[in-house]
Amino acid sequence: MAETTARRTIPISMLVNGCRHHLAVDPRHTLADLLRDQLGLTGLHLGCEQGVCGACTVHIDGEPVVSCLTLAVEAQDVAIRTVEDLAQDGALSALQQAFLAHGAFQCGYCTPGFLMVGQHLLDQGLATDRDAVREGLSGNICRCTGYEPIIDAILSVAQQEPRA
Ligand code: FES
Ligand code: FES
Repeated sequence: MAETTARRTIPISMLVNGCRHHLAVDPRHTLADLLRDQLGLTGLHLGCEQGVCGACTVHIDGEPVVSCLTLAVEAQDVAIRTVEDLAQDGALSALQQAFLAHGAFQCGYCTPGFLMVGQHLLDQGLATDRDAVREGLSGNICRCTGYEPIIDAILSVAQQEPRA
């Protein structure tokens, strides 16, 4: 029998930014590939593709994850949030507005990852002070801005939010 060269795909179902998707994924592909190439969510950026820079960060079930080191098939039955979900009805989120106000980006390549980690720190009440935010951002690299304006932006939102 002739050997088939057809590539095997695996069916998965997942929530992305609140919408359910049923997809056939190549088991070799990463979650970053799936989100960018199959769903057109190009907000996450690929920098190092080795889990070092954080530019590809998304939330999986509320936790920040580097999508370049996550296989697409691992997304079965999880809820994913990407940077596209921060703005609602065309209005920037408080954190996005704070990044603008504090000049927290220049080229913007790293920004999606910082936003998603920053949002997680805010969601979890972890942006308690400068050191905590710096520690929370330790998996993200920016080559332009320096980190102080990014920390300022996150802290400014934390200080606006009522304590739970
Ligand atoms: S591209 Fe994923 S951590 Fe750098
Ligand atoms: S703004 Fe350019 S890498 Fe961060």
